[in-house]
Amino acid sequence: MLRYNIFLCLAFAISTVSVVISQVPPEKQFKVLNEPSYAPYITEYDASYRFIESENQSFFTRPFQLLFYNTTPSAYILALRVGTRRDMDFNRWIWDANRNNPVGDNSTFSLGRNGNLVLAELDGQVKWQTNTANKGVTGFQILPNGNMVLHDKNGNFIWQSFDHPTDTLLVGQSLKLNGVNKLVSRTSDMDGSDGPYSMVLDNKGLTMYVNKTGTPLAYGGWPDHDFRGTVTFAVTREFDNLTEPSAYELLLEPAPQPITTASPGNNRRLLQVRPIGSGGGTLNLNKINYNGTISYLRLGSDGSLKAFSYFPDATYLEWEESFAFFSRYFVRQCGLPSFCGDFGYCSRGMCVGCPTPKGLFAWSEQCSAPKTTQFCAGGSKGKTVNYYKIVGVEHFNGPYVNGGQGPISVNDCKAKCDRDCKCLGYFYKEKDKKCLIAPLLGTLIKDANTSSIAYIKY
Ligand SMILES: *[C@@H]1O[C@H](CO)[C@@H](O)[C@H](O)[C@H]1NC(C)=O
Ligand SMILES: *[C@@H]1O[C@H](CO)[C@@H](O)[C@H](O)[C@H]1NC(C)=O
Ligand SMILES: *[C@@H]1O[C@H](CO)[C@@H](O)[C@H](O)[C@H]1NC(C)=O
Ligand SMILES: *[C@@H]1O[C@H](CO)[C@@H](O)[C@H](O)[C@H]1NC(C)=O
Ligand SMILES: *[C@@H]1O[C@H](CO)[C@@H](O)[C@H](O)[C@H]1NC(C)=O
Ligand SMILES: *[C@@H]1O[C@H](CO)[C@@H](O)[C@H](O)[C@H]1NC(C)=O
Repeated sequence: MLRYNIFLCLAFAISTVSVVISQVPPEKQFKVLNEPSYAPYITEYDASYRFIESENQSFFTRPFQLLFYNTTPSAYILALRVGTRRDMDFNRWIWDANRNNPVGDNSTFSLGRNGNLVLAELDGQVKWQTNTANKGVTGFQILPNGNMVLHDKNGNFIWQSFDHPTDTLLVGQSLKLNGVNKLVSRTSDMDGSDGPYSMVLDNKGLTMYVNKTGTPLAYGGWPDHDFRGTVTFAVTREFDNLTEPSAYELLLEPAPQPITTASPGNNRRLLQVRPIGSGGGTLNLNKINYNGTISYLRLGSDGSLKAFSYFPDATYLEWEESFAFFSRYFVRQCGLPSFCGDFGYCSRGMCVGCPTPKGLFAWSEQCSAPKTTQFCAGGSKGKTVNYYKIVGVEHFNGPYVNGGQGPISVNDCKAKCDRDCKCLGYFYKEKDKKCLIAPLLGTLIKDANTSSIAYIKY
């Protein structure tokens, strides 16, 4: 009897649910084809692109547009583009659906009755989807802030592109500890797949990593800043009264503080916050003296972190670089690992030398670091390694690991590098006896005041 009752309840529950779930009405459904179309404007990455059109759905909400683009033949990415004047400046790609899974010609992008948004090859093979079948989706929309949403009949978002950032945050978009917690760079302009740079939010802060050797190395960000589980890229007007012409501020905002008794007089924002080791609260990236409502923050394929803002009054190049983490006004430019390409000696924002065992030569793009294959090749056990010395340089990772491990002696530091075939060199700080083992060299930062000495293998 009891069992029967449970069965009845269950059956009732199931039937109720299936009755309650709404579906996408026919006039909101669409199926568009990735096929050649007229595409006259210049876009970022020198990409070719194809418009998509449906009688039932708009894919354009000024200034955002959803379309296909490709940088190599027959490998298309469904992406959101932003740009308001199509003839004067690049349009920017700010969100990719399938960056690691491109589709071919005549692939389809569709929203069917069940509410799943699907990107599939001609033969039906699914390359990307939102997994929102039978979850009550009743329509699709691109909102004016660039968020692409699937909503239910009450307007609640069942899925939103803002929850799935790639390398870019739009204004109002967040990284979340309980969601997607990182940006990942593209490999290059030509290759949109996941690259070696990431910016990761965790309980300690927001840290930029380069992972080219299997070991992620921190090189930037705000590793000791409490964002309370969420960090949002935001733009606000400097003053709240709307009568005064005012500056706009680009911010990184933490999750809202749980309401406590407010501490008065603590609302002043500092123009610059020391990026490393700063306290809690909102971070000010920069001030711009024009309406920066249309802005984005991007982790570039070179590892840079930059914001760009649309400046409609410009007659040419409307997109202005409105923030750069590695810049004169923020963190030293030489701190960007890729600043001098593969390898270089960097002083005050310039690549001034190419280190070699014979001394510093003139820097060029060809300047290259030793290769691990030299030291990790099989059967070379017992091979003696040599080091050459560069005085007064720091490794990009140094500030983020407190200079390295220690205190240890310089001989022990060397022995560690000797033993580790992936070690390309070590950095030793005489003053506090710190040892940093470097599996990746990149840009060496000259600092006249540091006691750090680099020993590079050859
Ligand atoms: C577009 O809407 C009409 C109804 O207005 C519907 O009959 C048609 O199937 C829809 N088109 C697609 C591709 O779903
Ligand atoms: C794609 O569709 C177009 C037009 O229907 C056709 O001419 C072309 O051959 C198709 N391409 C492929 C790869 O199927
Ligand atoms: C670093 O890169 C390696 C090799 O590509 C990969 O296996 C590893 O998962 C990456 N680590 C992180 C933390 O991303
Ligand atoms: C607007 O706010 C600024 C800064 O608080 C203040 O200096 C200015 O007088 C205000 N303007 C008006 C019209 O209230
Ligand atoms: C700033 O630009 C946004 C987007 O173009 C617009 O909606 C907003 O009204 C502008 N704000 C002011 C104060 O002009
Ligand atoms: C080195 O230290 C001196 C004294 O502390 C300081 O005046 C100078 O600006 C520093 N130089 C650099 C390049 O940091």
